[in-house]
Amino acid sequence: MGISDKLRKEIAAQNAELPRLRSGLLPALHRVHQACGDISEGAASELAEIFEMRPSEVLAVVEISNVLNTRRRGRHQVKICVGGACLRDGAREFLNALSERIGVLVDGISEDGRIELGEEVCLGACSAAPLMWIGDEVHEGLDLDEAERILDALD
Ligand code: FES
Repeated sequence: MGISDKLRKEIAAQNAELPRLRSGLLPALHRVHQACGDISEGAASELAEIFEMRPSEVLAVVEISNVLNTRRRGRHQVKICVGGACLRDGAREFLNALSERIGVLVDGISEDGRIELGEEVCLGACSAAPLMWIGDEVHEGLDLDEAERILDALD
């Protein structure tokens, strides 16, 4: 997604207040990220033009950031462990069944943007599959009903 005219005007107004043009890059990145959900290559090129930089320099700033992404992310990162021990205990089947039940593809994002479903390898509780990791929380020994209930409760 490109940068809208409205956003360009906001960035220009912000830059007019700053002593150095490049000082505005990070706030501008956050504005674009908030509006678009990611920093696409196209947006990085547009920002590079605005800030008189190379697109690779803009993307390098995104790369070192903990909060900016070059692709759209779900509000909640939900990971199912597919490490060896969990696979032996049916983690793959659980992940596929959960994906089908909640209507979110593996490595996909729900239509409402709440849930991003993915895989993780070994969450350190190898005897408690299936394991679901959401933010800092690990839920162990789940069945599909319990997993769905937990996901439904997320904002
Ligand atoms: S393999 Fe799944 S927690 Fe270790």
